[in-house]
This record gives sequence, C-alpha cells and structure tokens, in this order.
Amino acid sequence: MDIDEFVVERLRPLLGERKRTETYFDLAGERKVRMGLNENLLVNRFFSDTLLFEAVKRLDVREYPPPKGWTAVRAIAEEMGVWEDEVLVGNGSDEILDLVAKVFLSSDGCEALIVDPTFEMYRFYALLAGGRARQVLTSRDFRLNADSVLSEIGEDTKVIFICSPNNPTGRQFDRDEVLRVVEESGRIVVLDEAYVDFAPYSLSGECTKYENLLVLRTFSKAFGIAALRAGYCLGNSRIIEWLRAAQSPFSVNSAAQQMVRLVLENRKVYDSFVKQVIEERNYLTAELEMVPGVEAYESDANFILFRLPDSAPSKEVVRRLSESGLEVRDRGSLPLLENCVRVTVSTRENNLKFIERLKEVMGELA
Ligand SMILES: Cc1ncc(COP(=O)(O)O)c(C=O)c1O
Repeated sequence: MDIDEFVVERLRPLLGERKRTETYFDLAGERKVRMGLNENLLVNRFFSDTLLFEAVKRLDVREYPPPKGWTAVRAIAEEMGVWEDEVLVGNGSDEILDLVAKVFLSSDGCEALIVDPTFEMYRFYALLAGGRARQVLTSRDFRLNADSVLSEIGEDTKVIFICSPNNPTGRQFDRDEVLRVVEESGRIVVLDEAYVDFAPYSLSGECTKYENLLVLRTFSKAFGIAALRAGYCLGNSRIIEWLRAAQSPFSVNSAAQQMVRLVLENRKVYDSFVKQVIEERNYLTAELEMVPGVEAYESDANFILFRLPDSAPSKEVVRRLSESGLEVRDRGSLPLLENCVRVTVSTRENNLKFIERLKEVMGELA
C-alpha cells in the first residue's frame, strides 16, 4: 500500500518539508545560539519568568481555556482602544494566517497575491487550504510599489499579503503605498506587522476604518513569548466575525491568555527591551558593514538581512556557522535575495560570537 497515493494531490510537494523538520529537531536541542527564528533574547529572562509564574498561579489546568482566547481578546481591545469584536487572538499569528486561508482561499481557483520576497507561511497556508498563490515582487531595493501590486490583481484574487516591516528584508514599506493598496484593491489586505514594535510607524490604528484591512500582530517578537504561541489581528468586525466562526474554541491556551494580559500591563518594561533591540541592531549593522564584501541592509525589525560576496556562498556560510553552533537563516533561494542571509539581533555576547565566526568563515572561503 502506498500511503502517498492517498495524500491530496496539491499537498504532495509538502514532502519536501521533511528536511526542514530535521532542522527543527536541531533547534529543539539546547546547544545552538538561536539567531535564525527572530526570537527576542533581549527580553529579560528573570522578568518574563516572574510574569509567567504569576500567569500560571492564576489558572487551573483542569479547566479548558476561556473560549476563543477571550481573556486575551479583552486585554488587547483595551490596550489598543478598539472593540472586542474587532480583535481575534490566535495560537500564534500563524493560526490567524491559517484561518484567513481557510475562510477566503479554500475554494478552487481562489488566489492570494503575495508581495515577495517575504515570509514563506503565506504561501504555505494558501496552498494548504486549497487556494493558489501568486507573487508580485518588490523593487530591487525592496520597496513596495502600489501600482505593481494593483496591476497584478486578477478576478480570482481574494487576499493580498503584505508584510511590513518585511521579513526577511527588514524594511518597513512606505505608509502611503500600503494604504493605496488597501484603498484601491477592493480585496482583503492582510498587513502583517509582526515586527512593527521595532519600527517607526504602525497602521493598526487604521484597521477599523477600512472594511478590507486586517492588521496582524504577534507576542512572539517584542514581547518574547514565542513558546506560548499568541498572536492577534485587528480589523473590521465583519471579517473578524468570519475568522472567529472558523476558529476552534480552545486553540489559545490559558497560560498564553494570562500572559498576554500581564505583558500588556507591563508594556513600559517591554518598551525598554525594544529599545535595547534597536541599539543592538544598530551595533550589529555597523559591525556587519565592516566585514569586507558584506552588504548589510537597513532594518526596522529585530533581524538584519545581509548579502555576501560571490566568494562566500550563503549556503556554505550558513552551514559553517551552524557547525559552530550558530543558527542563522540562508535566504539566498528567495527571489531578489541571491546570496543573502538573515540574522536575528541577539544579546551583545551572541552578536559578537556571530560576527567573529562570520569573519573567520569569510577568511576560510576567500
Ligand atoms: C512576518 C511574520 N509573521 C508571522 C510570524 C509568526 O509569528 P507567531 O509566532 O505569532 O506565529 C512570523 C514568525 O517568524 C513572522 O516572521
């Protein structure tokens, strides 16, 4: 019996993911310096542990969580100055992407337009749901051009995914260009602001003004609770209502919900961690620029994209760094990103380790 034969045809390419699973197992080990997943190690460990104990004390693990992340929904609505029916909380913002794809893209022929190069999960969830995905490229210097996006919209285009600050390029798109897409596309625009806390501006204040704008945020980055899985989106109550209807009732666990409440109560403390990330980002960018042949791109996020010279293939550099226990992401196979690597801004100690080893590897390959 060949199990593969039973797998839905459009999902067969997923088998290529096996290799990635191995990488995940690598990361499950404690040995590596984690600079590959844009986690936030500049959140003080003692502080987040203290909040976590507080969160855990408030719950009874015998009970199911408040349905549909209700405790967290209320806390976010209050913090952001919106109504509860304009907020959806998910098991990470990944769950919200999954729900968007299920609700708007799961019928044959429905298409997502994705501004690339970007976060790979938009395409993943669109295809998983049974939709199609089409890319529209940024300019060579990674800017969003509203006209290019608008001209690519077809009859079947239902959702446009824009990530700003964009992962992995790091820059935030021009506000007016994004708003033109929202205003003129007549499609649902998912604006993923996972990294916006490290950037100059947010469009979350606009999302209830437009019936087609969904702004996606996460607690995994600035608030450093990636392990608990909590993300949310803000938008018009009609869209939120549909997404909530498709969500399983208990997907957001109780500890995550309590923790969301607590981190928001302590927002000022987190602002100081964000400030440190920005300082370290400036330091690391400057250090990268001093490595001969390396071009570092300006970032509005907690990671930096850099391009290596031809003498140092990104795949090989990332492999050698990984052998030395430093995990970074090779992004060289993405459009426009030939020979590019993405590194997460970390503590000064980790940043130094990374720069030192990168210089050595570049020397080895010269
Ligand atoms: C752009 C972007 N969106 C969403 C996510 C997913 O975040 P979460 O941890 O909330 O699922 C990530 C994670 O790296 C990301 O880079």
